Amino acid sequence: MGKILVTGAFGQIGSELTQALREKYGLENVIATDLKRKLDSSHDSGIALPVDCLDFDTLNKIVKTYGIDCIFHLASILSAVAEEKPQFAWNVNMGCLYNILEIARENKCRIFVPSSIASFGPLTQINDVPQDTTQRPTTMYGITKVAGELLCDYYYKKYKVDTRGVRYPGLISYKTLPGGGTTDYAVEIYYEALLHKKYVCYLEEKTYLDMMYMPDAIKAAIDLMEVDSSGLCHRNAFNITAMSVSPEEIAAEIRKTIPEFTIEYNIDPLRQSIADSWPNNLDDSAAKEEWSWNPEYDLQAMTKDMLSKLSDKLKSEAIFSIK
Ligand code: NAD
Ligand code: SER
Repeated sequence: MGKILVTGAFGQIGSELTQALREKYGLENVIATDLKRKLDSSHDSGIALPVDCLDFDTLNKIVKTYGIDCIFHLASILSAVAEEKPQFAWNVNMGCLYNILEIARENKCRIFVPSSIASFGPLTQINDVPQDTTQRPTTMYGITKVAGELLCDYYYKKYKVDTRGVRYPGLISYKTLPGGGTTDYAVEIYYEALLHKKYVCYLEEKTYLDMMYMPDAIKAAIDLMEVDSSGLCHRNAFNITAMSVSPEEIAAEIRKTIPEFTIEYNIDPLRQSIADSWPNNLDDSAAKEEWSWNPEYDLQAMTKDMLSKLSDKLKSEAIFSIK
């Protein structure tokens, strides 16, 4: 990869992906962009520029000025927020993606665009969802994800833009909080376990969803962008997963380290209905076959690492706030 642009660079994925890309390809070769309010609150090193991806001219100017040839497009509105503000979510998710695709076409950039488990809906089979199957999501977020998959396919077929992407499951990380999704509980539960030894979950105890620890999600994005494209059939929407888990299973795993941890349930009807419209787990064999996808972390390994790293982070933040 030459010069890389990351949009939504200060979100849950972007904050870690930007750092990983800078470590791999050089600090000066990765330009981070996000909305101004996000940049103002960050303490990142390296070039970071404020840009709304709905602003085509500013984005296009940045791509030309820095000679960008690869874009990781992460700017988006996630499922729970999108369901509260569907018109806004459609405008941001589709408007930003359209601008990125047009800029990639004009400037001959390769692009990575994530889709989601949310691209599936109630008509999709619930277990072992195949790579190519019925989608028909019933959430605005999911609708923008399917439309995005199709638009990326179109730009590849029509204009030969090198578009690639994965359907991420819920992502669990300790560095940056998630941005308003249905799977956010799977991050909150670790914070609350360490801080209060108790968590009130907004999803039902047996709600199964695919999940993944952030290091695997970062590896997926970089591996897919590095692989020789001649072996790729499903360019834009590879099913990937690392585990299919429920709130009660995560709680049980946390109790192996924090035995006094308790979980209660106070169901949020909106997020429960979104989760109920998504499958339990995806079949990721196409990603395994086409670009050797292979996650490292299962629930046990992730929980051990998450509790240890998050505990260190919370302690250092507490010391910092006392000083
Ligand atoms: P996030 O909400 O944490 O971050 C998104 C970032 O985009 C934010 O920093 C926000 O400020 C920025 N943004 C929003 N509107 C913008 C605009 N108009 N212009 C520029 N920046 C804007 O989201 P994330 O979790 O990092 O997700 C990144 C991508 O991965 C999204 O496409 C999301 O749908 C997808 N994804 C995420 C998950 C997950 O669990 N985190 C799962 C599946 C798919
Ligand atoms: N984690 C995301 C969400 O819940 C899934 O795409 O919105």
